[in-house]
Amino acid sequence: MKILIINGPNLNLLGVREPNIYGRESLSDIENWLNNQPEADGHSITWFQSNHEGELIDFIHGAMGNAGGIVINPGAFTHYSYAIRDAIAAINVPTVEVHLSDIHSREEFRKISVIKDVCIGQIYGLGKSGYLEGLKKLLFSFD
Ligand code: DQA
Repeated sequence: MKILIINGPNLNLLGVREPNIYGRESLSDIENWLNNQPEADGHSITWFQSNHEGELIDFIHGAMGNAGGIVINPGAFTHYSYAIRDAIAAINVPTVEVHLSDIHSREEFRKISVIKDVCIGQIYGLGKSGYLEGLKKLLFSFD
């Protein structure tokens, strides 16, 4: 199964960015960790990160007819990007929304996700394990 793991703005700074909230591991640490989990075995996992909304949308479009599922941490775009929401809705590829932090116990604006309704699930507050849970949720949804 081809799976895309997409990360939005500022997630390239993981490890140095507000480590009290997001932890001390970099995005590539998380990528290496996840790719070596037994659940990842036998799947082709492609990671992509961008700070640009249009690049994220183009990458999401590229999943159409090409990938079996998406795990996405849209960063702050979660809270207001109708364009990313529409891209996910358009492609008909099962998508799980993931957040490292517990967005429901932080600032009010983080509690709103405009992406959630077009995803098969929302995972938050589990740190890097959220990406693994997202992958598992996708794999279960194919059974
Ligand atoms: C985040 C939560 C968002 O509110 C924030 O803007 C991020 C990271 C998370 O993974 O917890 O950039 O998506």
